[in-house]
Amino acid sequence: MKVLVVGSGGREHAIVQKVSESPKVDKIYCAPGNAGIAELAECVNIQAMDFENLVAFAKKETIDLTIIGMDDPLVGGIVDEFEAAGLRVFGPRKNAAIIEGSKAFSKDLMKKYNIPTAAYETFEHADAAIRYLETQAQFPIVLKADGLALGKGVLICNTLEEAKNGVKTIMLDKQFGNAGNKMVIEEFMTGREVSVLAYCDGTHIKTMTSAQDHKRAKDGDQGLNTGGMGTFSPSPFYTPEIDAFCQKEIYEKTMAAMKAEGRDFVGILFCGLMITPNGTKVLEYNARFGDPEAQVVLPRMKNDIIEVMEACMDGTLDQIDLQFEDNAAVCVVLASDGYPVSYQKGFEIKGLERFRDQDGYYAFHAGTARKDGKIVTNGGRVLGITAKGDDLKQARDNAYRAAEWVEFDNKYMRHDIGKAIDEV
Ligand code: AMP
Ligand code: GLY
Repeated sequence: MKVLVVGSGGREHAIVQKVSESPKVDKIYCAPGNAGIAELAECVNIQAMDFENLVAFAKKETIDLTIIGMDDPLVGGIVDEFEAAGLRVFGPRKNAAIIEGSKAFSKDLMKKYNIPTAAYETFEHADAAIRYLETQAQFPIVLKADGLALGKGVLICNTLEEAKNGVKTIMLDKQFGNAGNKMVIEEFMTGREVSVLAYCDGTHIKTMTSAQDHKRAKDGDQGLNTGGMGTFSPSPFYTPEIDAFCQKEIYEKTMAAMKAEGRDFVGILFCGLMITPNGTKVLEYNARFGDPEAQVVLPRMKNDIIEVMEACMDGTLDQIDLQFEDNAAVCVVLASDGYPVSYQKGFEIKGLERFRDQDGYYAFHAGTARKDGKIVTNGGRVLGITAKGDDLKQARDNAYRAAEWVEFDNKYMRHDIGKAIDEV
Protein backbone atom coordinates (compact mmCIF):
# COMPACT_ATOMS: atom_id res chain seq x y z
CA MET A 1 0.00 0.00 0.00
CA LYS A 2 0.90 3.63 -0.50
CA VAL A 3 -0.20 5.79 2.41
CA LEU A 4 -0.41 9.59 2.67
CA VAL A 5 -0.51 11.25 6.11
CA VAL A 6 -1.71 14.88 6.26
CA GLY A 7 -0.17 17.10 8.93
CA SER A 8 3.19 18.22 10.25
CA GLY A 9 3.42 17.84 14.02
CA GLY A 10 4.51 15.36 16.66
CA ARG A 11 1.15 13.62 16.39
CA GLU A 12 1.68 13.02 12.67
CA HIS A 13 5.20 11.75 13.36
CA ALA A 14 3.72 9.22 15.82
CA ILE A 15 1.12 8.19 13.21
CA VAL A 16 3.78 7.85 10.49
CA GLN A 17 5.93 5.77 12.86
CA LYS A 18 3.04 3.38 13.49
CA VAL A 19 2.13 3.21 9.79
CA SER A 20 5.77 2.40 9.00
CA GLU A 21 5.50 -0.65 11.27
CA SER A 22 2.64 -2.12 9.20
CA PRO A 23 3.67 -4.99 6.92
CA LYS A 24 0.96 -3.83 4.51
CA VAL A 25 2.72 -0.56 3.72
CA ASP A 26 5.53 -0.11 1.18
CA LYS A 27 5.59 3.65 0.81
CA ILE A 28 4.57 6.58 3.02
CA TYR A 29 4.12 10.21 2.00
CA CYS A 30 3.46 13.06 4.41
CA ALA A 31 2.10 16.49 3.52
CA PRO A 32 3.72 18.71 4.55
CA GLY A 33 5.59 16.67 7.23
CA ASN A 34 8.71 17.79 9.08
CA ALA A 35 12.42 16.94 9.40
CA GLY A 36 11.81 13.89 11.62
CA ILE A 37 8.97 12.50 9.54
CA ALA A 38 11.29 12.79 6.51
CA GLU A 39 13.30 9.84 7.87
CA LEU A 40 10.29 7.53 7.46
CA ALA A 41 8.23 9.17 4.74
CA GLU A 42 8.65 11.25 1.62
CA CYS A 43 7.54 14.75 2.59
CA VAL A 44 5.47 16.59 0.00
CA ASN A 45 5.27 20.34 0.11
CA ILE A 46 1.47 20.73 0.13
CA GLN A 47 -0.25 22.43 3.06
CA ALA A 48 -2.97 20.59 4.99
CA MET A 49 -5.68 23.08 3.94
CA ASP A 50 -4.83 22.86 0.23
CA PHE A 51 -7.48 20.20 -0.51
CA GLU A 52 -7.31 20.58 -4.27
CA ASN A 53 -3.60 19.83 -4.50
CA LEU A 54 -3.77 17.07 -1.90
CA VAL A 55 -6.50 15.30 -3.88
CA ALA A 56 -4.57 15.80 -7.12
CA PHE A 57 -1.43 14.37 -5.50
CA ALA A 58 -3.27 11.34 -4.09
CA LYS A 59 -4.75 10.62 -7.53
CA LYS A 60 -1.47 11.06 -9.38
CA GLU A 61 0.45 8.79 -6.97
CA THR A 62 -2.46 6.30 -6.71
CA ILE A 63 -2.47 6.57 -2.91
CA ASP A 64 -4.38 3.67 -1.33
CA LEU A 65 -5.15 5.37 1.97
CA THR A 66 -4.92 8.96 3.24
CA ILE A 67 -4.91 9.60 6.99
CA ILE A 68 -5.85 13.08 8.23
CA GLY A 69 -4.07 14.02 11.46
CA MET A 70 -5.19 17.60 12.04
CA ASP A 71 -8.45 19.25 13.09
CA ASP A 72 -8.61 22.17 10.63
CA PRO A 73 -8.81 20.10 7.43
CA LEU A 74 -11.27 17.65 9.02
CA VAL A 75 -13.59 20.42 10.17
CA GLY A 76 -13.15 22.04 6.74
CA GLY A 77 -14.40 18.91 4.96
CA ILE A 78 -11.24 17.34 3.53
CA VAL A 79 -12.71 13.83 3.89
CA ASP A 80 -15.72 14.73 1.73
CA GLU A 81 -13.35 16.10 -0.96
CA PHE A 82 -11.29 12.91 -1.02
CA GLU A 83 -14.39 10.71 -1.11
CA ALA A 84 -15.91 12.76 -3.92
CA ALA A 85 -12.75 12.02 -5.91
CA GLY A 86 -13.13 8.28 -5.23
CA LEU A 87 -10.20 8.15 -2.80
CA ARG A 88 -10.01 6.15 0.42
CA VAL A 89 -9.49 8.40 3.43
CA PHE A 90 -9.50 7.94 7.21
CA GLY A 91 -11.27 10.59 9.28
CA PRO A 92 -14.76 11.95 9.95
CA ARG A 93 -16.69 13.77 7.24
CA LYS A 94 -17.46 17.44 7.69
CA ASN A 95 -20.92 16.73 9.12
CA ALA A 96 -19.33 14.58 11.87
CA ALA A 97 -16.13 16.59 12.50
CA ILE A 98 -18.44 19.38 13.68
CA ILE A 99 -18.38 17.57 17.03
CA GLU A 100 -15.00 19.28 17.43
CA GLY A 101 -15.63 22.25 15.13
CA SER A 102 -18.52 23.70 17.11
CA LYS A 103 -18.72 23.63 20.91
CA ALA A 104 -22.36 24.75 20.70
CA PHE A 105 -23.10 21.72 18.51
CA SER A 106 -21.36 19.29 20.85
CA LYS A 107 -22.97 20.74 23.97
CA ASP A 108 -26.45 20.59 22.37
CA LEU A 109 -25.77 17.00 21.30
CA MET A 110 -24.82 16.00 24.85
CA LYS A 111 -27.88 17.73 26.28
CA LYS A 112 -30.25 16.13 23.76
CA TYR A 113 -28.88 12.61 24.31
CA ASN A 114 -28.30 12.87 28.04
CA ILE A 115 -24.51 12.53 27.93
CA PRO A 116 -22.93 13.87 31.16
CA THR A 117 -21.33 17.29 30.74
CA ALA A 118 -21.17 20.66 32.50
CA ALA A 119 -24.36 22.79 32.51
CA TYR A 120 -24.16 25.56 29.89
CA GLU A 121 -25.85 28.20 27.77
CA THR A 122 -25.05 29.26 24.20
CA PHE A 123 -24.90 32.90 23.04
CA GLU A 124 -24.77 34.67 19.68
CA HIS A 125 -24.64 38.22 21.05
CA ALA A 126 -22.26 39.74 23.59
CA ASP A 127 -24.97 41.75 25.41
CA ALA A 128 -27.06 38.63 26.04
CA ALA A 129 -23.97 36.81 27.33
CA ILE A 130 -23.19 39.67 29.71
CA ARG A 131 -26.78 39.87 30.98
CA TYR A 132 -26.64 36.12 31.66
CA LEU A 133 -23.33 36.45 33.52
CA GLU A 134 -24.86 39.11 35.76
CA THR A 135 -27.40 36.53 36.97
CA GLN A 136 -24.71 33.99 37.86
CA ALA A 137 -23.60 33.50 41.46
CA GLN A 138 -21.00 30.79 40.92
CA PHE A 139 -17.43 31.68 39.94
CA PRO A 140 -15.11 30.60 38.41
CA ILE A 141 -17.14 30.26 35.23
CA VAL A 142 -15.92 28.98 31.86
CA LEU A 143 -16.19 30.83 28.52
CA LYS A 144 -15.60 28.96 25.27
CA ALA A 145 -15.37 30.32 21.76
CA ASP A 146 -17.58 28.11 19.60
CA GLY A 147 -15.10 27.30 16.84
CA LEU A 148 -11.53 26.05 16.47
CA ALA A 149 -9.00 28.29 18.23
CA LEU A 150 -5.75 26.27 18.41
CA GLY A 151 -6.83 24.97 21.82
CA LYS A 152 -6.80 28.51 23.19
CA GLY A 153 -10.46 29.52 22.97
CA VAL A 154 -11.30 28.56 26.58
CA LEU A 155 -11.22 31.22 29.32
CA ILE A 156 -11.64 30.33 32.99
CA CYS A 157 -12.87 33.48 34.73
CA ASN A 158 -12.66 33.95 38.48
CA THR A 159 -14.88 37.03 38.82
CA LEU A 160 -17.80 38.68 37.05
CA GLU A 161 -15.46 41.44 35.88
CA GLU A 162 -13.06 38.92 34.32
CA ALA A 163 -15.94 37.08 32.67
CA LYS A 164 -17.35 40.29 31.16
CA ASN A 165 -13.91 41.07 29.76
CA GLY A 166 -13.75 37.52 28.43
CA VAL A 167 -16.98 37.98 26.50
CA LYS A 168 -15.47 41.12 25.00
CA THR A 169 -12.27 39.27 24.08
CA ILE A 170 -14.13 36.44 22.37
CA MET A 171 -17.17 38.12 20.80
CA LEU A 172 -16.24 41.76 20.22
CA ASP A 173 -12.45 41.92 19.89
CA LYS A 174 -12.61 38.55 18.06
CA GLN A 175 -9.30 37.42 19.49
CA PHE A 176 -10.03 33.93 18.15
CA GLY A 177 -11.45 35.21 14.86
CA ASN A 178 -14.73 33.78 13.60
CA ALA A 179 -14.47 31.03 16.24
CA GLY A 180 -15.95 33.72 18.50
CA ASN A 181 -19.11 34.37 16.46
CA LYS A 182 -20.89 32.21 19.02
CA MET A 183 -19.86 31.22 22.50
CA VAL A 184 -20.70 28.77 25.24
CA ILE A 185 -20.74 29.74 28.91
CA GLU A 186 -20.50 26.74 31.20
CA GLU A 187 -20.23 25.59 34.75
CA PHE A 188 -16.68 25.19 36.12
CA MET A 189 -15.87 21.60 37.04
CA THR A 190 -13.15 20.35 39.35
CA GLY A 191 -11.40 17.02 39.30
CA ARG A 192 -8.85 15.01 37.42
CA GLU A 193 -8.68 15.34 33.63
CA VAL A 194 -8.20 12.34 31.40
CA SER A 195 -8.19 11.87 27.62
CA VAL A 196 -9.69 8.75 26.10
CA LEU A 197 -9.27 8.30 22.35
CA ALA A 198 -11.29 5.79 20.40
CA TYR A 199 -11.50 4.25 16.95
CA CYS A 200 -15.00 4.56 15.47
CA ASP A 201 -16.65 2.99 12.42
CA GLY A 202 -19.91 4.92 12.47
CA THR A 203 -21.61 2.26 14.59
CA HIS A 204 -19.01 0.69 16.88
CA ILE A 205 -16.52 2.44 19.12
CA LYS A 206 -13.35 0.90 20.61
CA THR A 207 -11.43 2.93 23.14
CA MET A 208 -7.66 3.04 23.38
CA THR A 209 -5.65 3.16 26.58
CA SER A 210 -6.14 6.42 28.53
CA ALA A 211 -3.76 9.38 28.69
CA GLN A 212 -3.35 12.67 30.50
CA ASP A 213 -2.09 15.90 29.00
CA HIS A 214 -0.39 18.87 30.74
CA LYS A 215 -1.69 21.97 29.00
CA ARG A 216 -0.06 24.78 30.98
CA ALA A 217 3.38 26.08 30.06
CA LYS A 218 4.99 25.95 33.52
CA ASP A 219 5.57 23.49 36.34
CA GLY A 220 2.72 23.09 38.80
CA ASP A 221 0.18 23.86 36.05
CA GLN A 222 1.12 27.53 36.07
CA GLY A 223 1.53 29.84 33.09
CA LEU A 224 -0.38 30.06 29.84
CA ASN A 225 -2.28 27.33 28.04
CA THR A 226 -0.27 25.60 25.33
CA GLY A 227 -0.91 22.89 22.76
CA GLY A 228 0.36 20.45 25.42
CA MET A 229 3.68 20.17 27.28
CA GLY A 230 3.68 16.46 27.95
CA THR A 231 1.53 13.39 28.49
CA PHE A 232 1.48 10.08 30.28
CA SER A 233 -0.42 6.87 29.59
CA PRO A 234 -2.28 5.12 31.10
CA SER A 235 -3.94 7.39 33.66
CA PRO A 236 -4.06 5.60 37.04
CA PHE A 237 -7.10 7.73 37.91
CA TYR A 238 -9.13 6.21 35.08
CA THR A 239 -10.21 3.09 36.96
CA PRO A 240 -12.09 0.09 35.52
CA GLU A 241 -15.24 1.37 37.30
CA ILE A 242 -14.94 4.77 35.64
CA ASP A 243 -14.26 3.09 32.31
CA ALA A 244 -17.38 0.93 32.64
CA PHE A 245 -19.47 4.05 33.35
CA CYS A 246 -17.97 5.96 30.41
CA GLN A 247 -18.37 3.08 27.95
CA LYS A 248 -22.10 3.03 28.61
CA GLU A 249 -22.94 6.65 29.38
CA ILE A 250 -20.47 8.48 27.14
CA TYR A 251 -18.82 6.49 24.32
CA GLU A 252 -21.72 4.28 23.21
CA LYS A 253 -24.19 7.11 23.64
CA THR A 254 -22.07 9.52 21.59
CA MET A 255 -21.79 7.05 18.72
CA ALA A 256 -25.54 6.39 18.78
CA ALA A 257 -26.30 10.12 19.03
CA MET A 258 -24.19 10.94 15.98
CA LYS A 259 -25.83 8.14 14.02
CA ALA A 260 -29.31 9.28 15.07
CA GLU A 261 -28.43 12.75 13.78
CA GLY A 262 -27.37 11.32 10.40
CA ARG A 263 -23.74 12.17 11.17
CA ASP A 264 -22.12 8.72 11.43
CA PHE A 265 -18.72 9.24 13.04
CA VAL A 266 -15.86 7.37 11.35
CA GLY A 267 -12.35 8.14 12.58
CA ILE A 268 -10.78 8.98 15.92
CA LEU A 269 -13.05 10.36 18.60
CA PHE A 270 -11.10 12.05 21.39
CA CYS A 271 -13.09 12.42 24.60
CA GLY A 272 -11.66 15.00 27.01
CA LEU A 273 -13.11 13.96 30.37
CA MET A 274 -13.21 15.39 33.88
CA ILE A 275 -13.48 12.91 36.74
CA THR A 276 -15.50 15.10 39.12
CA PRO A 277 -16.77 14.32 42.62
CA ASN A 278 -20.23 13.97 40.98
CA GLY A 279 -19.16 11.53 38.30
CA THR A 280 -17.21 11.65 35.06
CA LYS A 281 -18.29 14.28 32.52
CA VAL A 282 -17.27 15.34 29.03
CA LEU A 283 -15.12 18.49 28.83
CA GLU A 284 -14.85 18.43 25.06
CA TYR A 285 -14.71 16.22 22.01
CA ASN A 286 -12.06 16.27 19.33
CA ALA A 287 -12.34 14.51 15.98
CA ARG A 288 -8.72 13.31 15.73
CA PHE A 289 -5.75 12.02 17.72
CA GLY A 290 -4.47 14.35 20.44
CA ASP A 291 -1.08 15.98 20.27
CA PRO A 292 0.83 14.91 22.40
CA GLU A 293 -1.60 12.10 23.42
CA ALA A 294 -0.84 10.17 20.22
CA GLN A 295 2.85 10.16 21.21
CA VAL A 296 2.13 8.03 24.32
CA VAL A 297 -0.86 6.00 23.13
CA LEU A 298 0.28 4.80 19.69
CA PRO A 299 3.67 3.42 20.78
CA ARG A 300 1.77 1.17 23.22
CA MET A 301 -0.71 -0.14 20.64
CA LYS A 302 -0.07 -3.74 19.56
CA ASN A 303 -2.35 -3.78 16.49
CA ASP A 304 -1.44 -2.95 12.93
CA ILE A 305 -2.86 0.59 12.64
CA ILE A 306 -3.73 0.08 8.98
CA GLU A 307 -5.90 -2.93 9.79
CA VAL A 308 -7.75 -0.99 12.49
CA MET A 309 -8.29 2.04 10.27
CA GLU A 310 -9.53 -0.14 7.41
CA ALA A 311 -12.02 -1.79 9.79
CA CYS A 312 -13.26 1.70 10.75
CA MET A 313 -13.82 2.67 7.12
CA ASP A 314 -15.45 -0.70 6.32
CA GLY A 315 -17.74 -0.69 9.37
CA THR A 316 -16.20 -3.88 10.78
CA LEU A 317 -14.49 -2.51 13.87
CA ASP A 318 -16.42 -4.99 16.05
CA GLN A 319 -14.20 -7.72 14.58
CA ILE A 320 -10.97 -6.06 15.75
CA ASP A 321 -9.38 -7.09 19.03
CA LEU A 322 -7.73 -3.82 20.03
CA GLN A 323 -4.75 -4.44 22.31
CA PHE A 324 -2.27 -2.32 24.21
CA GLU A 325 0.97 -3.28 25.91
CA ASP A 326 0.76 -3.77 29.66
CA ASN A 327 3.25 -0.98 30.38
CA ALA A 328 3.35 2.81 30.44
CA ALA A 329 4.70 5.71 28.41
CA VAL A 330 5.60 9.32 29.16
CA CYS A 331 6.16 12.11 26.63
CA VAL A 332 8.08 15.24 27.64
CA VAL A 333 7.80 18.12 25.17
CA LEU A 334 11.00 20.04 24.50
CA ALA A 335 9.94 23.57 23.59
CA SER A 336 11.61 26.83 22.65
CA ASP A 337 11.92 29.04 25.73
CA GLY A 338 9.23 31.72 25.53
CA TYR A 339 6.58 29.44 23.97
CA PRO A 340 3.59 29.99 23.69
CA VAL A 341 4.18 33.76 23.41
CA SER A 342 7.37 34.54 21.49
CA TYR A 343 10.56 32.60 20.95
CA GLN A 344 13.57 32.38 18.66
CA LYS A 345 14.09 29.50 16.27
CA GLY A 346 16.73 28.19 13.88
CA PHE A 347 19.02 26.63 16.53
CA GLU A 348 20.81 23.39 15.71
CA ILE A 349 19.49 20.30 17.52
CA LYS A 350 22.15 17.85 18.65
CA GLY A 351 21.91 14.32 20.02
CA LEU A 352 19.01 12.94 17.97
CA GLU A 353 21.16 10.02 16.77
CA ARG A 354 21.03 8.63 20.34
CA PHE A 355 17.43 7.55 19.65
CA ARG A 356 18.34 5.31 16.71
CA ASP A 357 17.76 1.65 17.49
CA GLN A 358 16.84 2.43 21.11
CA ASP A 359 13.83 0.25 21.70
CA GLY A 360 11.06 2.05 23.56
CA TYR A 361 12.51 5.55 23.07
CA TYR A 362 11.23 8.03 20.48
CA ALA A 363 12.08 11.60 19.51
CA PHE A 364 8.91 12.75 17.77
CA HIS A 365 9.49 15.95 15.82
CA ALA A 366 7.01 18.81 16.08
CA GLY A 367 8.67 22.09 15.11
CA THR A 368 11.90 21.16 13.33
CA ALA A 369 13.39 21.88 9.93
CA ARG A 370 16.42 20.84 7.93
CA LYS A 371 18.84 23.64 7.15
CA ASP A 372 22.25 23.20 5.50
CA GLY A 373 22.19 19.48 6.32
CA LYS A 374 21.43 20.09 10.00
CA ILE A 375 18.22 19.72 11.97
CA VAL A 376 17.21 23.03 13.56
CA THR A 377 14.40 24.27 15.81
CA ASN A 378 11.48 25.66 13.83
CA GLY A 379 8.58 26.13 16.23
CA GLY A 380 7.35 26.54 19.79
CA ARG A 381 7.01 22.86 20.50
CA VAL A 382 10.15 21.32 19.01
CA LEU A 383 10.25 17.65 20.00
CA GLY A 384 8.20 15.16 22.01
CA ILE A 385 10.53 12.79 23.82
CA THR A 386 8.65 9.58 24.57
CA ALA A 387 9.88 6.64 26.59
CA LYS A 388 8.18 3.48 27.69
CA GLY A 389 8.69 1.71 31.02
CA ASP A 390 7.22 -1.18 32.96
CA ASP A 391 5.19 1.33 34.95
CA LEU A 392 4.58 5.07 34.95
CA LYS A 393 7.45 5.89 37.30
CA GLN A 394 9.95 3.98 35.20
CA ALA A 395 8.58 5.50 31.99
CA ARG A 396 8.93 8.98 33.50
CA ASP A 397 12.54 8.35 34.60
CA ASN A 398 13.33 7.04 31.13
CA ALA A 399 11.68 10.00 29.37
CA TYR A 400 13.49 12.59 31.49
CA ARG A 401 16.81 10.80 30.98
CA ALA A 402 16.24 10.74 27.21
CA ALA A 403 15.22 14.43 27.30
CA GLU A 404 18.84 15.13 28.32
CA TRP A 405 20.23 13.34 25.25
CA VAL A 406 19.04 16.25 23.11
CA GLU A 407 20.57 19.72 23.19
CA PHE A 408 19.65 23.01 21.54
CA ASP A 409 19.87 26.68 22.53
CA ASN A 410 16.69 27.87 24.18
CA LYS A 411 15.58 24.37 25.19
CA TYR A 412 12.70 24.46 27.68
CA MET A 413 10.66 21.71 29.30
CA ARG A 414 8.40 21.14 32.26
CA HIS A 415 9.96 19.01 34.98
CA ASP A 416 6.76 17.64 36.47
CA ILE A 417 5.16 15.67 33.64
CA GLY A 418 3.48 12.69 35.27
CA LYS A 419 4.10 13.99 38.80
CA ALA A 420 0.45 13.31 39.66
CA ILE A 421 1.15 9.59 39.55
CA ASP A 422 3.09 9.96 42.82
CA GLU A 423 -0.26 10.56 44.50
CA VAL A 424 -1.55 7.06 43.76
P1 AMP B 1 -11.36 22.34 26.13
O1 AMP B 1 -10.70 22.92 24.91
O2 AMP B 1 -12.84 22.46 26.14
O3 AMP B 1 -10.83 20.98 26.51
O4 AMP B 1 -10.82 23.23 27.32
C1 AMP B 1 -9.44 23.37 27.55
C2 AMP B 1 -9.16 23.17 29.01
O5 AMP B 1 -9.92 24.09 29.79
C3 AMP B 1 -9.57 21.80 29.52
O6 AMP B 1 -8.59 20.85 29.28
C4 AMP B 1 -9.77 22.09 30.97
O7 AMP B 1 -8.53 22.12 31.66
C5 AMP B 1 -10.33 23.47 30.98
N1 AMP B 1 -11.80 23.43 31.01
C6 AMP B 1 -12.64 23.41 29.96
N2 AMP B 1 -13.93 23.35 30.36
C7 AMP B 1 -13.90 23.35 31.71
C8 AMP B 1 -14.90 23.30 32.72
N3 AMP B 1 -16.21 23.28 32.42
N4 AMP B 1 -14.51 23.29 34.00
C9 AMP B 1 -13.20 23.34 34.32
N5 AMP B 1 -12.20 23.39 33.42
C10 AMP B 1 -12.54 23.39 32.12
N1 GLY C 1 -3.53 17.67 23.59
C1 GLY C 1 -4.82 18.16 23.37
C2 GLY C 1 -5.27 18.14 21.97
O1 GLY C 1 -4.65 17.57 21.10
O2 GLY C 1 -6.31 18.71 21.70
